[in-house]
Amino acid sequence: MRLIDADIRALVEADRVHRKVYVDEEIFQLEMQRVWKRAWVFVGHESQVKEAGSFISTTIGTEPVVMVRDKSNEIHVIYNRCGHKGAKVTNKPCGKTPMFRCPYHGWSYNLDGTLNVTPHKVGYEDTGFDKSDTRFHMGKVARVENYRGFVFASQIKEGVNLEEFLGDAKATIDNVLDRAPTGQIEIVGQALLYMHDCNWKMFIENLNDGVHPMVTHASVGDACRKLLGQLPEGASPPPEAEIVFPFGSSYEFFDDMGVSVMPYGHSYMGGQSSIHQDYSDVEGYRDKMVARHGEEKTQQVLAQNRHNTTIYPSFTIKDAIQAIRVARPIAVNKTLVETWHFRLIGAPDALLHRTITYSRLINSPASMVGPDDWNCYARMQEALKSSSNDWVDLHRYLGREEIREGDVTRARGTSDLSMRNQYQAWLTYMASGNCDE
Ligand code: FES
Repeated sequence: MRLIDADIRALVEADRVHRKVYVDEEIFQLEMQRVWKRAWVFVGHESQVKEAGSFISTTIGTEPVVMVRDKSNEIHVIYNRCGHKGAKVTNKPCGKTPMFRCPYHGWSYNLDGTLNVTPHKVGYEDTGFDKSDTRFHMGKVARVENYRGFVFASQIKEGVNLEEFLGDAKATIDNVLDRAPTGQIEIVGQALLYMHDCNWKMFIENLNDGVHPMVTHASVGDACRKLLGQLPEGASPPPEAEIVFPFGSSYEFFDDMGVSVMPYGHSYMGGQSSIHQDYSDVEGYRDKMVARHGEEKTQQVLAQNRHNTTIYPSFTIKDAIQAIRVARPIAVNKTLVETWHFRLIGAPDALLHRTITYSRLINSPASMVGPDDWNCYARMQEALKSSSNDWVDLHRYLGREEIREGDVTRARGTSDLSMRNQYQAWLTYMASGNCDE
């Protein structure tokens, strides 16, 4: 069946979405064409390609791409597809190379994706083959922009620029950089990978779902409370407790955090308060911050606490924890979630250690929190095959948004506002015109 725009529009209403958006293969394929091609999708951080020839391979939607730095220091995002018969040119997740060479017939490519050499050239003479024709290159992704080191790409030639797309979400990235005593950050190591048996939207929606922690993660809060209750008088709690315990916070706490949404489907929870607000000081860090910013600005920078700024459709970043998570859709019911860690250059190593500990405790497949969420996503993915009820509910605090500041709308933290906002963006991408489908 070929979906028309009216079919797509019928899937989203103000207070509910149709179950097909999570389980229908045709919808998933259309999302890859219309959402993941049109949006600005996070590709990587410039610190992952520090030197000429450094590259990472990744995906935009389901399309394999390479991000690479060339000899003149320019960063390119090119399709990881040979211009000859379409083989994936590199299988390495990262590396350094003077050029790319296809393993099948040996076509080689410059670092900007242009075709360099075709072996046994004589066979192409007088055939009309022209190696400058871009059809024979590793093609360039239509638009690549870099916001303060974060590289995003869009596969369509026209549309809003990256800064306009990011809007108020830029303030989260700015805050992460402000938290570095040198103003610089770098990705450390490789990603923590967690394969999820669910549609990509379930993971993205959950990031600002402020009503699930007190149920889904109840056992985590209970275990922490029990542990703290058993500590000998005057003993300090283990440092892991301050990371894990807030996941058992009350409905009221999450309500007070609030949720803020902006155009293009982006959102975050908190702002002034969050589940990360009470982390203990790291020795020596504040002095370095004051040396850079002065007392007043240091206070402002460290007081900003946005929990999971979600840059729709693929990317989420925290400011108090220097980690990002990136959704890579694999299939309608499979999503790879990558967690990457940043070093705040110039800050004590203890901050990086805390971020990695956070991932171990919260985001890893062997953690105390991530599998709680994974279990619920997998259950939804399975049960939404049922035709007993075609709709997924989004009523919570509908029509009771509280504050509008410019492009930002705010509501209580347990509102479904962020999900309703995501589906308005989804409709804008999905129900308007062709995108090479
Ligand atoms: Fe790459 Fe033939 S498929 S050189």
